[in-house]
This record gives sequence, structure tokens and C-alpha cells, in this order.
Amino acid sequence: MRAILIGFMGSGKTTVGRLLAAGLATQHADLDDLIVQRAGRPITTIFAERGEGYFRQMEHQTLLQALKTPGVLSTGGGTPTIAMNAISLKQSTVPVIWLTAGDQTTINRVKNDSSRPLVNELDPDALIALKRRRQSLYAAVADLTIATDQLTPRQIAHQIQEWL
Ligand code: S3P
Repeated sequence: MRAILIGFMGSGKTTVGRLLAAGLATQHADLDDLIVQRAGRPITTIFAERGEGYFRQMEHQTLLQALKTPGVLSTGGGTPTIAMNAISLKQSTVPVIWLTAGDQTTINRVKNDSSRPLVNELDPDALIALKRRRQSLYAAVADLTIATDQLTPRQIAHQIQEWL
């Protein structure tokens, strides 16, 4: 991997990851998509049928595989908040970019998306509380942090490319 994007739900990891990969003329992988392919069912179904713990195990196995492939990886919002994933990210020595967004931006971006089990489960206050609790975990693995609120995905991808 050339770069790994982390951040809370709605921070733009997938959109920016695609643009960054295109700019670097490399491939893009989205960890959630890889998990869905592997499981043969959507994330909401994995959570509903097997629970979050099972999802996290799959996520870890899929992350280990993804780290061996070239390109840009967009992780899930919870990926670096699990200790074993944080360790794998650190050990990989791939640059980790943390995309941040303000609370209101986050709510606006995710509120109508029913494909995210945690958004379906939590009310906006609880979602923001989760976001707060995760800040220090993202910070612990990030090599670069970009506040996304005032930038377009293209501008963000460009900033990352310059920094790399
Ligand atoms: C999760 C975020 C999701 C997905 C799963 C759990 C989280 O990824 O991995 O629903 O714990 O924040 P996105 O950030 O791509 O929505």
C-alpha cells in the first residue's frame, strides 16, 4: 500500500481514496467493500446476523490481506479503533492519513445512509459521542491529518498527493 485513509464515518475516505489512487495511477481498495465481497452479504446483514464482534474479526483478516496489496486503502470508520488493527497499521509503515470532519458535517453526510449499522443504531448525539471517543485512537496512528469541511474531495486528494 502507498497510503491508508482513516477517519470517522462520513469523513470522505472512499471518495478521496478513489481520487488519490487515480492521481497516483494506482489501484484503490475499500476495506468495507472487500469485507462485503468476502462475506457475500452487506455490512448491515453481517452486523444483524453475526454481530459486531464477528464483523471486527473479518475486518482484521481483510485488513491483513489488503496491506499486502499495492495501491490506496480506504478503511472503515472503526478500523483503527481496534487495537490489533492499530498495531497492524503501525507495523505496515504505510503513511496513514486521517480525514476529520466537524460534528454537523458528519451528521449531514451520514444521516440518510441506511447502509451503516451504527448510524441506524445510534441517535445523532450518541454518534457524535462515539466520534469523540475515537479521536485519540485515530490520532495515535495518523501521520497526516486533514480537516475536510472546507475542501472538496479533489482538493483533499491533491493535498495528500503533495504531502506523499
Ligand atoms: C464503521 C464504519 C463503517 C463500516 C462499519 C462500521 C464504524 O465504515 O466499517 O459500518 O465502526 O465506524 P465507513 O466509515 O466507511 O462508513
